[in-house]
Amino acid sequence: MAGVEVRFEDVWKSYEAVIALRGVTLTAPGGRITVLLGQSGCGKTTLLKIAAGLLEPDRGRVYFNGVDYTRVPAERRDVGMVFQDLALFPHMSVFENVAFGLRVRGVRGLELERRVREVLDLVGLDRSFYNRRVTELSGGQQQRVALARALVIEPKVLLLDEPLAHLDYKVKQRLLEEVRRIQRSLRITTIYVTHDQLEAMAVGDVIAVMRDGYVVQVGTPREVYENPRDLYVASFFGDANILDSRFAGLNSDGLVALRFEDVILNPNGDVDVVYEGVVEDIIFQGAFVSLEVNVINRSLKLLVPRREFARQGVSLGSRVRVGWKLSEVRGFNSGTT
Ligand SMILES: Nc1ncnc2c1ncn2[C@@H]1O[C@H](COP(=O)(O)OP(=O)(O)O)[C@@H](O)[C@H]1O
Ligand SMILES: [Mg+2]
Repeated sequence: MAGVEVRFEDVWKSYEAVIALRGVTLTAPGGRITVLLGQSGCGKTTLLKIAAGLLEPDRGRVYFNGVDYTRVPAERRDVGMVFQDLALFPHMSVFENVAFGLRVRGVRGLELERRVREVLDLVGLDRSFYNRRVTELSGGQQQRVALARALVIEPKVLLLDEPLAHLDYKVKQRLLEEVRRIQRSLRITTIYVTHDQLEAMAVGDVIAVMRDGYVVQVGTPREVYENPRDLYVASFFGDANILDSRFAGLNSDGLVALRFEDVILNPNGDVDVVYEGVVEDIIFQGAFVSLEVNVINRSLKLLVPRREFARQGVSLGSRVRVGWKLSEVRGFNSGTT
């Protein structure tokens, strides 16, 4: 059983003057994680609420496994949702927060205990947490409770709205791995909302890039990264130099994108375009070093592996060569962003 496929078809939604969704068509495949990625205000939460049945679209349809669910009320949709603000019950214990959804469904006694225990195990909270109030937990632990609360009703679809937004980097990394592990073990169809491209890459089987109420591109992280459909996607999903195409080496007008890591420092052959420049900035990022090189009054960014950077002995003010292959230059039909 591959899980329920969720399909949005030409979904529109306005809040008075604001048009939040402008005809979204998107399939979240069964048993996979689909990420809605986009800047704040682009319509991610609105689309998620429409999947949950908390909002009705003005136009368009939502299908679960091909069945029209557009007018099915939230409580009959079998979805678990973690909201942006978690919405835990602060006066209740961890156990009771998780048990709540089962109690309202009439589950009691040993069955209730077993299911709460199983799901708390799954999210990595042991017995020592059961009686603690959620206000006594760290952000990461609260996040686990929220996830357990969404999962305990054994939903067919899991909807996560920026679930890790306010956590520290390390906690976030760990929970991202956990979300993947849990999702894989349950094979539950998941729609995961974030504005963070690194988070999107870390959890997404499918990425839907949203902008201003539209889904502008859908694909695996690798597909979207390697073949962004326009300059906006190229610079929002991953980083890219935006250059005029003649400078980049093409015999045409317009703008093109060139990924930072596709610019080679002091290349030895094997490139199509080479310029000389001066190193203007060096930022150590760990595995990579980010360089800014001034070439004919343009600032070009490069991402160089740390070892390669060390081998070359480059420093601020160094004169260097930079180059790239034309095959790495991404041109677009329309040069607009
Ligand atoms: N209840 C509301 N009333 C009026 N405008 C809203 C409401 N909810 C969201 N919006 C507007 O709709 C647009 C999309 O919002 P939202 O779906 O929350 O975006 P995101 O989750 O991507 O940040 C934004 O311009 C936002 O200001
Ligand atoms: Mg939102």
